[in-house]
Amino acid sequence: MKRLAVLTSGGDAPGMNAAIRSVVRVGIDKGWQLLGIRHGYTGLITNNVIPLGARDVSGIIQLGGTMLGSARCPEFKTEAGRLQALRVLAEHEIEALVIIGGGGSQTGAHALSQMGFPVIGVASTIDNDLYGADITIGVDTALNIALEAIDRLKVTALSHERAFLIEVMGRGCGYLALMAGIAGGAEAIVIPEVETDPEAVAGELRSAYERGQAHALVVVAEGARYNAAALADYFKEHHERIGFDLRVTMLGHVQRGGAPSAYDRLLATRLGADAVERLTRGEHGDLVGLVKGEISATPLTEVVVHKKPLDLRLMELARMLAR
Ligand code: ADP
Ligand code: F6P
Repeated sequence: MKRLAVLTSGGDAPGMNAAIRSVVRVGIDKGWQLLGIRHGYTGLITNNVIPLGARDVSGIIQLGGTMLGSARCPEFKTEAGRLQALRVLAEHEIEALVIIGGGGSQTGAHALSQMGFPVIGVASTIDNDLYGADITIGVDTALNIALEAIDRLKVTALSHERAFLIEVMGRGCGYLALMAGIAGGAEAIVIPEVETDPEAVAGELRSAYERGQAHALVVVAEGARYNAAALADYFKEHHERIGFDLRVTMLGHVQRGGAPSAYDRLLATRLGADAVERLTRGEHGDLVGLVKGEISATPLTEVVVHKKPLDLRLMELARMLAR
């Protein structure tokens, strides 16, 4: 029986378990024998491989994280590391691999594919920074977690007539901050893609107070030049002139561990199934992701060279809405 393996790599994202479950069960249905690699590429190098049956993936669809574990594995960036991974794959007679993860993980998938091993990537990261996927697994859940935090902060901001700043994740990408800012009704949004002057942020907050608002909220992406720490320092340094403080909340990893939303479970399930179906047909070297509402495959060779653009017209929409 042909053997198919699955691994999760990079930052965990809510929905990874749903994708694993789908790969395993659809794989079994298509006649594959399934194996799981533990802790991403690390498990490929250290030979941490487990058999996966249909029952091994019971009761995980509603859980955040990944039952296989994930890791950042610097060794896999070296040719020696990848050759060792190929030896482990050969030892277990694995013929194809599904790699569930974000941009870095898909660069690793591409490297393995270039060495002749059949892989399909599944787009999964809360950052939503992956070319070949309009929305990646985990984004919807992470966004809802950020929104819940924003809604709560607004209650306190209103009670105390305070200005709050909330920093969300996203690495170099402002998607989470932009969407959370719009959906949460922020007065200002700071993202890496747009150069922001802290004086302009102070101006937005001041104008919110002048319009009679009792509270003001800034959503900032961790990757922005003026992230939470830098903005807070600036406001502290110029406190007398600016005239008010910023209370800072950094959401951090809270955004990654949530129970996957219905959207993420379904997206992960569909992408996992599609990855297996492609490998069963003999297709490989692609990333599967949702593009314009359709499950689509994009060659990894394209994924690794393109940067996904952020629709910056939404920054203008956010500005108009914050009146
Ligand atoms: P994510 O997949 O969430 O973007 P990382 O960027 O940390 O997370 O990448 C996850 C792993 O993918 C890295 O630890 C490494 O093992 C592998 N990887 C990243 N970049 C490369 C690369 N250029 N070549 C080979 N493997 C890579
Ligand atoms: O890629 C997901 C992510 O949560 C990013 O938003 C963040 O910059 C990074 O991972 C944090 O990495 P770590 O969990 O290794 O601290």
